[in-house]
Amino acid sequence: MKEGDRYLMSTYARFPLVSKQGKGATVVDVDGNRYLDFVSGIAVDSLGHCDPRLVKAIQKQAAQLLHVSNLYYNLPQIELAKFLVTHSFADKVFFCNSGAEANEAAIKLARKFAKEKRDPSRFEIIAAQGAFHGRTLATVTATGQEKYQKGFDPLLPGFRHVPYGDPEAIEKAVTPQTAAILLEPIQGEGGFGSRRKDISRKSERFATGTAFY
Ligand SMILES: Cc1ncc(COP(=O)(O)O)c(C=O)c1O
Repeated sequence: MKEGDRYLMSTYARFPLVSKQGKGATVVDVDGNRYLDFVSGIAVDSLGHCDPRLVKAIQKQAAQLLHVSNLYYNLPQIELAKFLVTHSFADKVFFCNSGAEANEAAIKLARKFAKEKRDPSRFEIIAAQGAFHGRTLATVTATGQEKYQKGFDPLLPGFRHVPYGDPEAIEKAVTPQTAAILLEPIQGEGGFGSRRKDISRKSERFATGTAFY
């Protein structure tokens, strides 16, 4: 942990646990302590740790072709996109590396669509107080929590925040400049379905929601 604090940038307040390996819902630290993992990579390890089929698929692909750029097509990318489209509401897929990047793309798409298909003056995004949408400059602006924004100003123009779970507040905030509304169905960082002023209860820090548009 000492070396971690020495060599890693302090972008996260980490808990004092050095994970070494995982199996299913269990994580083992470097001292051999076992934990039941309720965090699950913040809800991304949906198959549990080191699922044998997933490990095999990653090993097989890594031995075959590791990386090509988006300048070219590759078969697994097309196959996965087709699977996702045929099993969801989506028409097309944009692959990216993080939640922040997904939200960044959604903000860009919404602005581009509004400008080109509606009116060039449309660019505003309405988001909720207490929201968490990521740590890039655009998504941290959309995030309705000052603690994440401190030190990064000037933030991007064109974002408004309204109380969470208040449809009337959203209606009032909509103007002819509104391009999109960015909401988590359930606020994780802000507390479950909360309309409370106290939105930073530590016990709720690890609940995650997904942004939709
Ligand atoms: C609701 C929500 N949106 C966006 C993000 C950002 O995702 P990432 O950390 O992968 O950039 C998170 C991450 O916790 C999240 O919980």
